[in-house]
Amino acid sequence: MEEVKISFLGFGNVGTGAYKIIRDNGKDILLSEGVGLKVAKILVRDINKKRDIELEHSILTDKFEEIANDPEISIVAEFMGGVEPAKDYIVSCLMNKKTVVTANKELIAKHGLELQTVARENGVGLYYEASVAGGVPVIKILAESLQANKIGEIMGIINGTTNYILTKMSEEGRDFSDVLSEAQKLGFAEPDPTADIEGFDAMYKICILSSMAFHKRVDVNNIYREGITKITTEDIEYGRELGFAIRLLAIAKKRNNTVEVRVHPTFIPVDHPLAAVRHSFNAVFLKGDAVGNIMLYGKGAGDLPTGSAIVSDIITAYHQRSKHRYISFYNDEGSAEKLKFNDDWESEFFVRLTVKDKPGVLAKIAGYFGKYGVSIASVIQKDRGKDAVPLIFVTHLAKELSMKKAISDIAKEEDVLMVENIIPVER
Ligand code: NAP
Ligand code: HSE
Repeated sequence: MEEVKISFLGFGNVGTGAYKIIRDNGKDILLSEGVGLKVAKILVRDINKKRDIELEHSILTDKFEEIANDPEISIVAEFMGGVEPAKDYIVSCLMNKKTVVTANKELIAKHGLELQTVARENGVGLYYEASVAGGVPVIKILAESLQANKIGEIMGIINGTTNYILTKMSEEGRDFSDVLSEAQKLGFAEPDPTADIEGFDAMYKICILSSMAFHKRVDVNNIYREGITKITTEDIEYGRELGFAIRLLAIAKKRNNTVEVRVHPTFIPVDHPLAAVRHSFNAVFLKGDAVGNIMLYGKGAGDLPTGSAIVSDIITAYHQRSKHRYISFYNDEGSAEKLKFNDDWESEFFVRLTVKDKPGVLAKIAGYFGKYGVSIASVIQKDRGKDAVPLIFVTHLAKELSMKKAISDIAKEEDVLMVENIIPVER
């Protein structure tokens, strides 16, 4: 049997989860995989901070050099978060011939190619299963189980915090801010929830998945991103009447020779498999040309689920130590198709307006949609006879830019009191 010395960069939620798995399952891993995993050093910001786990104090350090310069450490697992100093540390480890396993989605989304190149040049590995959907093994499935396919579409619920908030809003009729503060008190949402509720977290994750699936460099700056802060209980209620459930979806689609990647609140039919994903669960729905539809479902965050992905990557890295496999993502040469990025994506749209209740208003609004080639699939008007009434449209497939132009004209129309919300609809 071989003992592998590992170091951790960070010892928060994910680090503690990975440590507990190695502590509790280490013997089984030794028997089944033939490798003894030993956590030799852990880098933290504050070595004197009280930690809810028993461990030898001498294992903690606040000096990165103790890890970088230790030749006995062959695998480093990073879960500090953020770009710097994590990137600097990872580059340093790779150059010191240490394989790196990371949960850092922002870093991989922004600098994955660069880090992979350094890893390759130094003959060591870079593994990042934990960076997308926590414990759901979507990276390995894409890289190792679906290579025979051309992936045409990915639709994912890959942020647990927003799925929890939308589930509570939908099932309990509560406002966004009310559910958000409850989620913060319960520890589901971060004290600064921006990355989750504004869609950045999901954007980094779909950046990684779409780059891998399409073998196409997807720049985070090209991804359309909209969070869930403008969703109201009224939107959810009207959506429900139309047979829709609301989710924050991360979507990547290939159409002809173009790719579109976006994150936004989305209405989906209540019988869509993703509509069954509630609370903080994650799911990724993939379409392959040979395999058809596949859905992966599970816990997308938390110490043990994310630790599971980390420790599994460490074991894989050990098995592949003499020949690491580099996943062909961000690799335009690796694609047979020459794909162009398309930022004028298309979808059906739910449009909710408040208008004056008088004859001719509907016809005027329909005229603006028509002017920009947006075709209307259905209309609902509520509450006849009041001064201001809700008017809801669902369009057929339309270009987002055409929708924006139509809505800009509609907003200027004097009989339209308010453009309340516009929410894409996917089926
Ligand atoms: P966390 O609880 O905030 O832990 C961060 C750890 O990194 C802490 O131990 C902290 O040290 C250490 N650290 C931060 N900056 C440092 C620095 N400059 N030098 C040394 N140590 C530093 O974070 P987390 O929730 O575990 O998340 C870590 C990473 O995993 C992030 O990239 C996150 O996006 C990703 N991720 C998290 C989850 C999840 O469920 N939480 C799931 C998937 C992926 P101290 O302990 O001394 O403060
Ligand atoms: N904050 C993320 C979520 C977990 O809510 O899903 C870390 O990826």
